[in-house]
Amino acid sequence: MNDLVLQAPAKLNLTLDVLGREPDGYHQLRMVMQSVTLCDTLTLRPLGDASGIRAASNLAYLPNDGNNLVVKAARVFFAAVGLPEPGLEIHLQKRIPVCAGTAGGSSDAAAVLRGLNQLYGTGLSVEALMKLGESVGSDVPYCVLGGTALAEGRGERLTPLSPLPHCWFVLCKPGFSISTPELFRAVDQVRITRHPNTQGMLDAIAAEDLRGIAVRLYNVFEDVLPSGRRCVIQEIKDALLDGGALGACMSGTGPTVFGLFDDRAKAEQAAAQLSAIWRDTSLAENC
Ligand code: C5P
Repeated sequence: MNDLVLQAPAKLNLTLDVLGREPDGYHQLRMVMQSVTLCDTLTLRPLGDASGIRAASNLAYLPNDGNNLVVKAARVFFAAVGLPEPGLEIHLQKRIPVCAGTAGGSSDAAAVLRGLNQLYGTGLSVEALMKLGESVGSDVPYCVLGGTALAEGRGERLTPLSPLPHCWFVLCKPGFSISTPELFRAVDQVRITRHPNTQGMLDAIAAEDLRGIAVRLYNVFEDVLPSGRRCVIQEIKDALLDGGALGACMSGTGPTVFGLFDDRAKAEQAAAQLSAIWRDTSLAENC
């Protein structure tokens, strides 16, 4: 069996709303998601023996065992199709920042589900792969689908949307991490008074109105960040808007902030300017 090389795109939240909390502690969400061309590259390498499933990557600190979502996804896949776990190395070339609100780990896991289905000729539908993804992580079903989509429930109820007009995104991750469970706990402590206009966003997407999309970018998690972090997020948003972004917003549970541009030259210039201050800055397009 030959190696299989796959691309796993990052995700951005054009909107993120928290509607409530389930008894099990998970939250009811309503989010408009968009995949972008900033990708990790995965190589699935069947080893032809029974040495088990392991991950390897260009980042020494990432786990190589079942704590890595790609290994978890592969185990879920082989259990579901009733095949014994083979010897398999999953190599990750990481470019999507880790723990950054851009679903890097979830997208890698989704790519593994898609790739193993292809490699082993198991013929599972996209819907079946999305269902398998639910047990790996809340963003994995969306990452199996990709493109522009409305995600509801925990994030597993998906409605595909028409693609955005071609545009550019500058993604900028400041040098701190935000704990996802902690941010969800913080959102439980407050009454959310401002919500994204999700319906307005859906209408703007249907109308292919990029300016209408840009003015409706909104993430409720920005309002519950500790004040020091909120200031940095605002500083990045201001820099993106000063650089010609039509709108700017934090993605997911952060800390990545992105700006949406209709002009490639402005996006390139903003990316160059921001990368002088925040090293983890990249330019991407919608995909
Ligand atoms: O599903 P996943 O493992 O990606 O979720 C990580 C954490 O995010 C959960 O442990 C939970 O604290 C929080 N979460 C949530 N509600 C969701 C999705 C995630 O509270 N819908």
